[in-house]
Amino acid sequence: MHNTLRLFLFILVFLSPFSRASAKSGFEVGKGAFTLDGEPFTVKAAELHYPRIPRPYWKQRIEMCKALGMNTICLYTFWNAHEPAPDVFDFSGQNDIRAFIELCQEEGLKVILRPGPYVCAEWEMGGLPWWLLRKDDIRLREDDPLFLERVGHFQEALAAQLQDLTADKGGPIIMIQVENEYGSYGKNKPYVAAIRDMLRKNFGPDVVLFQCDWSSNFLDNGLDDLVWTLNFGTGADIQAQFQPLVEVRPDSPLMCSEFWSGWFDKWGAEHETRPAADMTAGIAEMLSREISFSLYMTHGGTNWGHWAGANSPGYAPDVTSYDYDAPISESGRPTAKYFALRDTLAGYLPAGEKLPPLPDLIPSGEVRPFAFKEYAPLGQLHYKPKREVFIRPMEYFGQGFGSIIYSTTLPQLPAGTVLTVDEPHDFARVFIDGDEIGRLDRRMAQTTLSVPADVAAGSRLDILVEATGRINFGRAIKDYKGITTGVYATLPGLPSLELTGWDVYLLPDNLEFYETTAFAPLDSAVQRSSDGRLPAGIYRGTFVVEKAADTFLRFDTWGKGLVYVNGHPLGRIWHIGPQQTLYTPACWLNEGDNEILVLDIIGPSEALSEGVAEPILDDLRLSLPDEQAEMPALDSFRRVFEGPTQACSGWQTLEFTSPGRGRYVAIEALEAHDGGNIASIAEIYISTPGGLTVPRENWRASASSSEVGRNRTPEKAFDLQESTSWTSAPDAAYPHTLVIDLGAEYDLNALRLLPRMEPGAPAAIRNLKVSIR
Ligand code: GLA
Repeated sequence: MHNTLRLFLFILVFLSPFSRASAKSGFEVGKGAFTLDGEPFTVKAAELHYPRIPRPYWKQRIEMCKALGMNTICLYTFWNAHEPAPDVFDFSGQNDIRAFIELCQEEGLKVILRPGPYVCAEWEMGGLPWWLLRKDDIRLREDDPLFLERVGHFQEALAAQLQDLTADKGGPIIMIQVENEYGSYGKNKPYVAAIRDMLRKNFGPDVVLFQCDWSSNFLDNGLDDLVWTLNFGTGADIQAQFQPLVEVRPDSPLMCSEFWSGWFDKWGAEHETRPAADMTAGIAEMLSREISFSLYMTHGGTNWGHWAGANSPGYAPDVTSYDYDAPISESGRPTAKYFALRDTLAGYLPAGEKLPPLPDLIPSGEVRPFAFKEYAPLGQLHYKPKREVFIRPMEYFGQGFGSIIYSTTLPQLPAGTVLTVDEPHDFARVFIDGDEIGRLDRRMAQTTLSVPADVAAGSRLDILVEATGRINFGRAIKDYKGITTGVYATLPGLPSLELTGWDVYLLPDNLEFYETTAFAPLDSAVQRSSDGRLPAGIYRGTFVVEKAADTFLRFDTWGKGLVYVNGHPLGRIWHIGPQQTLYTPACWLNEGDNEILVLDIIGPSEALSEGVAEPILDDLRLSLPDEQAEMPALDSFRRVFEGPTQACSGWQTLEFTSPGRGRYVAIEALEAHDGGNIASIAEIYISTPGGLTVPRENWRASASSSEVGRNRTPEKAFDLQESTSWTSAPDAAYPHTLVIDLGAEYDLNALRLLPRMEPGAPAAIRNLKVSIR
């Protein structure tokens, strides 16, 4: 045979994703469809995350998905939960992924495995272990030798658990995902190929491997021998989403590997919801066209303990609940969305087939109000300090989570001296001789405060820094905690002085640390601060449960911190909301006495709680004016572009007619393509003359108006998520203005805009002016 022909046949047979189908597994990638045992098979997957569900409830949640009409469970693996320290692996209890997959199999469900190593998922650091950061120059999610070596160790340990559960070996795992949405991180086919090769080696040649990305970027890292699937949310124009894929691979089975049922919540932002009708319409459209899907999330569950991540650009930490406005609520109950979806799925069953009944629900109930009886104030804990000349981040001391206190002695400083904490990750309280002089919140990029009165030489500076979740999205995942660089004092007219000679006190987030603390009675003699709050500290209490039922413990009188019940880490609390209760599952409660510990780094107004039968996830309590960005006046801005845009649903670039330097960019929308009142932008990039884009990590935005209650705030125009948008308020007329603070000055020469993803790109801007300052 001619050599070229031979090579061609080799590629066709062995490398094409459409032949990767293993006759042995029964699950195959056929022409235009997946097949199971020779028959077309539409994957109807429910995304569930085993560490987010109490283990005793795994079966009930899986059965809820089955009763909904799903035939597959799709799951990530969470590397940092499985490998808490290098080469220390944990596949037990909540982490027993094999047991979870076997439960799926017992229920007759298939499984899609998404082993990362990076998973995003609103999970601490996107699933990567914090200890990778101990090597300062590590390049995460790249072909960095140490990173790949560590990924290799974890992937081997994982495969040792699951190797024999793939479909070709008679198990339920039909597909395995390579990396996760790499296109949102960069372009690096060699790295993605290295992850693929590990999975091939570990799981063998017969399992179907796939990649998932967005419609706008899947080609950037698409490997020829992998199946390509796309991610998009409810409301998206499904035909338009798949169009680019169909063009390059007309024979590919179509699959939306993450169809977002709802969305996640961030501290200090409105509770997110998505209409059920948009979700069911999308599912119905996919079913009618035999398009496979995974509904992300079908049941979100809970970010127990310190596992919630944070979004970027900027710093937007995720709340504890991962309810996600999903069809199955955080506590495993069917919602109105569930029943609507069940009806939709039932409508596409073959004649005569019926959905199984719902499993029993776990009852929910109340816990009578109770008061905490003991406390250990943070100021008096007996820690042993570490000594360092310069500031070091938390990781340097071998601590991954919790809080840290940095203390030093100050030189004489006049009132008005500016203290710069560069940078506080993520929330700092600053004290001089025990008096609080201010707080720094990373969400608002706060790094400086002024010394209010003259400071005598020898005064003590204490900076308490609490770590919230590590960023799980974009380049900012390399997210150190504590103070990352240094602390400086700047006297008017003088160069900055770096403060040195630090005593460092570690407050790790673990039960031993809390339990070994010396508690004192919490009585009326305990002093309150000027704002009426009790001291920051660890609070201990007992509450009585008569008959164990799921409950939601209230924390609306508390400050900010972490909660444990009977040794189980329930998660983070923060008075700003929107979440004000913590899901407390019956399976972790005792009938009789239950112990509760709360670390509160601000201090409660009342050290009380009670269990309620329904969660409070939408009570936002922003009180500080600087939590809302103000819109600057546009008088001093200079016009750089004025003109029309094209009517289209994709990206378009507007070159500035007079490029220039600036830190603020104002977009004045003058009219919409659809002739309506509303302006909307899904994503924006701004570029510099070399064709580089301005980094979006430190952007902040304000707008003339935003649609309230629909999660369409200004920063949604650059949150790296094409499925979310800034949208003006429905009752406000054109013109609409969006002003972006880029965080620093840049040379600016063009703007790239993406309208909304829904059919017809609603509220896309037709005419606009762009100005800079
Ligand atoms: C992306 C990621 C998921 C998750 C969703 C948003 O699709 O792949 O892990 O972060 O966004 O919930």
